[in-house]
Amino acid sequence: MNLRNIVISDFIILFIGCENKNEKLSWLSSDQDSAFVQIERQFRGFDMAMKEVGYRYTELYFAALDENWDYAQYHLEKIKTAIENGLERRSKRAASAKGFLEYSLPRIVKVVEEKDSLNFPKKFELFRQGCITCHASEGVDFIKVVTPTIKLSPVSQ
Ligand code: HEC
Repeated sequence: MNLRNIVISDFIILFIGCENKNEKLSWLSSDQDSAFVQIERQFRGFDMAMKEVGYRYTELYFAALDENWDYAQYHLEKIKTAIENGLERRSKRAASAKGFLEYSLPRIVKVVEEKDSLNFPKKFELFRQGCITCHASEGVDFIKVVTPTIKLSPVSQ
C-alpha cells in the first residue's frame, strides 16, 4: 500500500468512525420539539434535586462538626443551587420552598459564615425542621429527614 492509499484508508476509517459515533449518540429525536421533551424528561423533576440535597445536607453536617467551614459553605451553596434548579423544573413546589429559602437557609448560612461551632447543632436542628415543614406541605412527610449519623462521601473532613 503506498502512502496515498494509507492516507485515504485512514481518512475513510476516521470518517466511518465519526459516523458510528454520531449514530450512537443519536438517541434524541430528529424533531427538535420532541428532542427538547426528551431532554427535559432526562433532567427529571424535584426528586433529583432532593437526592442531591440529601447528600449535601449530610456532608454539611459533618463538615461543620469538624469545623471545615469552607466545605460546609460549599455544600450550602450547592444546596441552594439544587433547590433553585429543582424549582425551575417544578415551579408548583415554589410556594412550599419559600420559607426554606428565605429563612431556614440564610440562618444556617450565617452560622457557618460565623464559624459558630457552639450554635451549629441548634441551628442545624432548625434547618432540619425547614426540610420537614416543606415535606409536610408537599405531601411527602413519609420522607423523614433526620439528623445525619453516617458520613456519605470519601472526602476527608
Ligand atoms: C419544596 C420543598 C422542599 C424542601 C425545602 C425540601 N424538600 Fe426534600 N423533598 C421535597 C419533595 C416534594 C420530595 C419528593 C420529590 C418527588 O416526589 O419528586 C422530596 C424528597 C426528598 C428526599 C428523597 C429523594 C429521593 O428521591 O431519594 C430527600 C432525601 C429529601 N427530600 C431531603 C431533603 C432535605 C435534607 C431537605 C432540607 C435540607 C429538603 N429535602 C428540603 C420537597 C422539599
